[in-house]
Amino acid sequence: MDTIKYTLTEDRMPTAWYNIQADLPTPLPVVRHPATGQPIGPADLAPIFPMALIMQEVSQERSIEIPEEVQSIYRQWRPTPLYRARRLEKALDTPAKIYYKYEGVSPAGSHKPNTAVAQAYYNKQEGVKRLITETGAGQWGSSLAFAGALLGLEVVVFMVRISYQQKPYRAALMHTYGARVVPSPSEETACGRAILAEHPNSTGSLGMAISEAVEVAVQDEHSKYALGSVLNHVLLHQTVIGLEALAQMEMAGDYPDIIVGCTGGGSNFAGIAFPFIGAKLRGERDVQIIAVEPASCPSLTKGAYAYDYGDTAHLTPLVKMHTLGSTFVPEGIHAGGLRYHGMAPLVSHVVRLGLAQPRAEAQLGCFAAGLTFARAEGILPAPEANHAVKAAIDEALRCKEEGVSKTILFNLCGHGHFDMQAYMDYEAGKLRDHEYSHEEVAMALAGLPVVAE
Ligand SMILES: Cc1ncc(COP(=O)(O)O)c(C=O)c1O
Repeated sequence: MDTIKYTLTEDRMPTAWYNIQADLPTPLPVVRHPATGQPIGPADLAPIFPMALIMQEVSQERSIEIPEEVQSIYRQWRPTPLYRARRLEKALDTPAKIYYKYEGVSPAGSHKPNTAVAQAYYNKQEGVKRLITETGAGQWGSSLAFAGALLGLEVVVFMVRISYQQKPYRAALMHTYGARVVPSPSEETACGRAILAEHPNSTGSLGMAISEAVEVAVQDEHSKYALGSVLNHVLLHQTVIGLEALAQMEMAGDYPDIIVGCTGGGSNFAGIAFPFIGAKLRGERDVQIIAVEPASCPSLTKGAYAYDYGDTAHLTPLVKMHTLGSTFVPEGIHAGGLRYHGMAPLVSHVVRLGLAQPRAEAQLGCFAAGLTFARAEGILPAPEANHAVKAAIDEALRCKEEGVSKTILFNLCGHGHFDMQAYMDYEAGKLRDHEYSHEEVAMALAGLPVVAE
């Protein structure tokens, strides 16, 4: 029998997350204070995050136990299936073997609840009543709204205005879970008002929405801020994806030669790739890793590796990462979750160490790949996930050209059921490719902070 799905029973779900910091040959550069540029410690982050998450941020332990309550909520949709894309292989007529890990089976439709539930849990443990966050695609906002509903926390979401307009049903889903959704930039914060004064028609950006969320969180002792990507603890929580995939590839009697993930802030990519990179760093198995970003927001392929702020108003600490500059406002392409000026410090570091290769893809090719995938496998990917689909298909076609059979694993990080407008625009020929030019990058980078290292 040709197996299609490799499913783990609930008792085989990972009980600990994998922390790549334990295996890195060189440690991450220090985090610095946004005003002084001086290295900061855990206490400096306490106004915005609970201490348990701050300790995970700096932990060097290889394994961090998943609390029982988080495991029990994870079991609502985890372990997620690993599929062998036999029909796609046939459609491409490739000798390659293609596998995908499908995170779209979660309640919010993507990988984001893996960290939303964990973050809500630790905040609740420390007495926090309300979580404030931002969202681009709406996947993260929906996930935190879901986690808040299950764990009894209030949730406020600043949603990038263009996504709010493009995806009203995402906002409706957040409302359904009981969250309050505010299009950003908004009149509710000083930084939102400052942006609107200068750009009344601003479409917003993740950097702006983060500024608004942080501003509100620090002003209320019962509130904390939550971030859906970029930070070490977020990437840590996502490693359940790769840990499950390791066990499922073993069930399939296979091991990937190539792993592909799309990168916005880096969390689903890290989730699938880090456990495999860890095995490589420990000398167990080699693997090629590809990180795919949009050509219109190319932080890994065209950005600088430098200290930068995580937000537009410069309220967040300075971290060393691949960045397009915190003033960068990306084109309104539909992959809203990939429109962030920076990249996770851990993903940036891993790329700098040569452990993963970045690649930029324009959106039309990604939508075309998404349609090929949907017509073969039935699942309609989120526009973000289409970037991974595109690279996986390209690698499979390369195998065909070269007459080699490689095993390709990619993360299908979410479904696109709330993204039908984007698919309709694509089919109607309304979408355009936009490549971010070196000149535009140079202009955006001119404002990078000067940090003495
Ligand atoms: C479906 C989906 N994929 C990918 C991303 C990008 O985030 P990350 O790089 O952290 O996985 C998002 C972000 O919102 C998303 O919604």
